[in-house]
This record gives sequence, structure tokens and C-alpha cells, in this order.
Amino acid sequence: MTRVAIVTGGTRGIGEAISVALHAQGRTVVANYTGNTEKAAAFTAATGIPAVRWDVGDHAATLAAVTAIAEQYGPVDIVVNNAGITRDGVLHRMSFDDWNEVMRVNLGGCFNLAKATFPGMRERGWGRIVNIGSINGQAGQYGQVNYAAAKSGIHGFTKALAQEGAKFGVTVNAIAPGYIDTDMVAAVPAPVLEKIVAKIPVGRLGQAEEIARGVVFLTSEDSGFVTGSTLSINGGQHMY
Ligand code: CAA
Repeated sequence: MTRVAIVTGGTRGIGEAISVALHAQGRTVVANYTGNTEKAAAFTAATGIPAVRWDVGDHAATLAAVTAIAEQYGPVDIVVNNAGITRDGVLHRMSFDDWNEVMRVNLGGCFNLAKATFPGMRERGWGRIVNIGSINGQAGQYGQVNYAAAKSGIHGFTKALAQEGAKFGVTVNAIAPGYIDTDMVAAVPAPVLEKIVAKIPVGRLGQAEEIARGVVFLTSEDSGFVTGSTLSINGGQHMY
């Protein structure tokens, strides 16, 4: 049976690698994106994976999009909540909008996708939800009270929903990436990033594919005894 998987933020960065890896496992993958239409079209042309545009922070839009995806491809058994944004800045300069937008997209997106898919997974007796958290949600990060709070929230959300899904064959896990070589990390000012990389024991940034391999494991048919866990993939930067 081909299972249908949605990967949010699935056309770029870590999400792109996840979409490609799940597709290679024989999953029917639908990649969500919000902003970059040009990149999404190039992604679909290169991989054959369809890309669907909606804002995961928008509750009604998420419910409508998932309903349409299920009608076209079949019930959604796998969700990877990967979509995330940063609005970095120290608290005394951070606007309410910078706070709210990061919470709305990064944490609200997990709720919206779960509301759209978890009830069906529960009824069918099988499901896999993987939420992409962050080392900065585990350890905190200067200039990221919004992002760290949202990512930390994702880790709590994961453990709570895992308890609700356990009896029904639905596992819910998190991955906490460290600093991965993506556009998001490239946006960190070079001198700041240099100091961060110097503290990574493995001595380099991670690759998106190294996160995707964790997602493949956590969404596999035989990972049913793994739930409520957080897999840290961070080059040893934070051992938690
Ligand atoms: N700890 C302590 N002090 C720090 C610090 C830190 N980690 N980082 C900066 N400071 C200090 C600086 O030394 C400086 O002090 P002085 O004024 O005494 O020299 C002061 O804070 C201001 O620093 P900046 O000049 O950098 O201030 P800024 O307002 O221009 O920028 C910032 C602040 C936006 C937070 C910037 O430092 C920054 O972008 N930091 C990186 C944040 C980060 O790591 N984001 C991760 C993005 S990637 C991601 O989120 C993916 C993931 O999941 C890992």
C-alpha cells in the first residue's frame, strides 16, 4: 500500500530533503509551501513531487487543503510538520508581530495539521506524525525568544499528542535539528555563525539529508514502538 505523506515547507531546505527521502521510500508525497512559487515549481519539475501552496498558520486554509489532498491522493497517514520561520532579534527590539508570527506558523502549524489529519489516522488505526523542533527549543538561543518558545512548544505538543495516539497506532515524535546548511542558517550573520559552528563537536554544519534519514526511520512501518521521543541530530552541540 502506498501511504500518503504531507511535508510542510517541503520544497526547500530540510523539507525538500524530507520530501525526496520519503518519495524514495515509495510514499506518495505532497509538499506544502507558502511563499516561493518559483522554487516550488522547480522542485516539482526536478522530483515529480506535487507542491501545494497554503499557509500552515491559517487554520481554515489547512483544513481545506488537507481535505483536497485526501480527495485527490487518498487518506493522509504521514505528516511531517517542518514549516518554520525565524524573526530573530533581542527581546527589547522584538515586536509583538515578530513574536506572534513565529508562534502562529511554527507552533500553530503543528496544531492545524494535526487537527486536519490526526482524527483520521486514529480511526484507521495507523499514523505517523513527525514534528521538526530545534536545538534552540531545547537549549534556548540569544535573539530567539519567539523561535525558542515555539520550538520548545513543539516538543511539549509532541509528547502530549503521542499519549493520545498511542492506543490507536499513531506515533508522534520530534526531531531536534542543530545548525543545518540551509538558507535559514545562512541568514545568520557570518561572525555569529562562525562562533556557533566552533561549538559543534563534529566540526561542521549538518546536511538536510541527515535530518531526512531520521524522518524516514520515524515514519517507517516498523517504528511503532517509538513514540513521544525526540531525536537530536545536531553534531553533538547539545547532548540532551
Ligand atoms: N550570548 C551572549 N551575548 C551575545 C550573543 C550570545 N549568544 N550573541 C550576541 N551577543 C551580544 C553581542 O556580543 C553584542 O554585545 P555588545 O553590544 O556588548 O558587543 C550584543 O549581544 C548585540 O549583538 P549583535 O550585534 O549581534 O546584535 P544585533 O541586534 O545586531 O543582532 C541577533 C542580534 C539578531 C540576535 C544576532 O546576534 C543573530 O542573528 N544571532 C543569531 C541567532 C541565531 O542563532 N539564530 C538561529 C537561526 S537558524 C535556526 O533557528 C535554525 C535552528 O533551528 C537551529
